[in-house]
Amino acid sequence: MEIQTSAGGFAELDVQALAVAVFKDERADEGFLKELDEASGGLLSSVLESEELKGKEGESVYLHLPAGADGPKAKRLLLVGVGERSDYRAAQVSQFAGAAIRTLRSRNVKSVGLVPRLEDDAAATSAATVEGAIIGLFEPDKYRTIDKEERAIERLVVVAGGADEEALRRGAERGRVVGESVNFTRDLSNEPGAYMTPTIMAERAQEIANEFGLEIDVLDQTRMEQEGMGALLSVARGSDQPPKMMVLTYMPDGKQSVEDGEDFLALVGKGITFDTGGISIKPSENMELMKYDMTGGATVLGVMRAVAQLKPPIPVLGVVPSTENMPSGKATKPGDVVRAMSGKTIEVINTDAEGRLILADAVSYAKKLGATRVIDMATLTGAVSIALGDVNTGILGTDQELINEVIESGREVGEKFWQLPLDKEYTKQIKSDIADIKNVGGRKAGTITAAAFIKEFADGISWAHLDIAGTAWGDEAKPFRSKGPTGVAVRTLLNFVERESARAGGAKETGRKNK
Ligand code: BES
Ligand code: ZN
Ligand code: ZN
Repeated sequence: MEIQTSAGGFAELDVQALAVAVFKDERADEGFLKELDEASGGLLSSVLESEELKGKEGESVYLHLPAGADGPKAKRLLLVGVGERSDYRAAQVSQFAGAAIRTLRSRNVKSVGLVPRLEDDAAATSAATVEGAIIGLFEPDKYRTIDKEERAIERLVVVAGGADEEALRRGAERGRVVGESVNFTRDLSNEPGAYMTPTIMAERAQEIANEFGLEIDVLDQTRMEQEGMGALLSVARGSDQPPKMMVLTYMPDGKQSVEDGEDFLALVGKGITFDTGGISIKPSENMELMKYDMTGGATVLGVMRAVAQLKPPIPVLGVVPSTENMPSGKATKPGDVVRAMSGKTIEVINTDAEGRLILADAVSYAKKLGATRVIDMATLTGAVSIALGDVNTGILGTDQELINEVIESGREVGEKFWQLPLDKEYTKQIKSDIADIKNVGGRKAGTITAAAFIKEFADGISWAHLDIAGTAWGDEAKPFRSKGPTGVAVRTLLNFVERESARAGGAKETGRKNK
């Protein structure tokens, strides 16, 4: 899809369709809608007066303008309700763009002008529009050969009359990078287990490293043994597929390495390419969904892919421990005791609580590489869906400032996080009789005890943990995106990195103003 921007008038724009955001209870008697109404020969005011469209989020009206009449070159008009004007920000712009482009694609439109109508920051508006459109166009039907969505938008123009051209273009480019990276993550998450083994995932990581210029190191089983990663290896034991640990490093231009004592952010993501539960095998109902148990890792790769292109001024480390979790004659048994890289011993009570085991060693390895702040993300517990559903991602950690920053970064891009407590009392639930700790803490507070387990390996650093088990997969389509993998947290973490960069550099430009 070709992406363009226009700071000119909408009427001259050479596209088949225009999609325009309409605010709640907005009338066509002033400003942009008045212009559009006049250009459409009063069609707009008659739609608004009929109250067919009241501007609520999720509403839309699709019109054909009379052929031959004066007025816009585009002969089709999609009006999209976007809710209250006072609540309209980058996150809503992105949803507007997604909803608009999905609707127009289904109407077989090939060229689209999107008019987001957020006027305060041209670059941020343009970025949110392009990002939302690209995310909106993703479909999970990669392997379908019949009844596939063949319609495609060929050209997208972001329209913001009177805006700064350069800012629009810069924003559109950023939006493209972010949108494509979100879809990269979604594509990996969507892959069946057979097509996304740890080896294949590591190949994908290698590809982005080569394409966008990141340092990469992939640890194989021998190196994991040398590092003493007994927790990660205990999960891999039952599988015929060798485990991999991907380590990607982004260094800003001119920086060679991170000095001792310098702040170093690491993103760590769970990369279980299929989770059968191991010997504590899962029920077969819905087990196919456990292909997305590598989404935390895919999120890290998606963020690193974008970071490499957006080139923020701070270094970022990405660590993705990856293995299958399979039952076999060689698999770890409930009751086995394993020794993590940190030296802590773990009694494996339930082999289905494998994510925390691989994260334990990945966090230790990030620390070894000098990380001072770690954000880990994982489809870690079913319990988080019980608590928060598919609306909020669970967030926990040891550094309230870091947690607040992630929550705020999410709010700006339209991704919700809800903090759960992590009092030290919960750690009692993971005390073991035979070893230092055990990998499950009983029925109570499942999401919290999982985090309490990882916390045991995050001493001495600032740490936050995102449990994306409930939010990484959408059972239903939304107007602005398909069902299936959501790519949750990629945008939040990119915004986080950008905000941190602004703080570190004292710069003002965050690219995503939120007024
Ligand atoms: N990958 C699962 C968690 C999960 C469940 C993700 C549903 C997405 C959807 C994780 O490895 C797991 O099995 N967790 C167990 C932990 C339990 C054994 C303490 C769970 O949540 O049931
Ligand atoms: Zn599991
Ligand atoms: Zn799992």
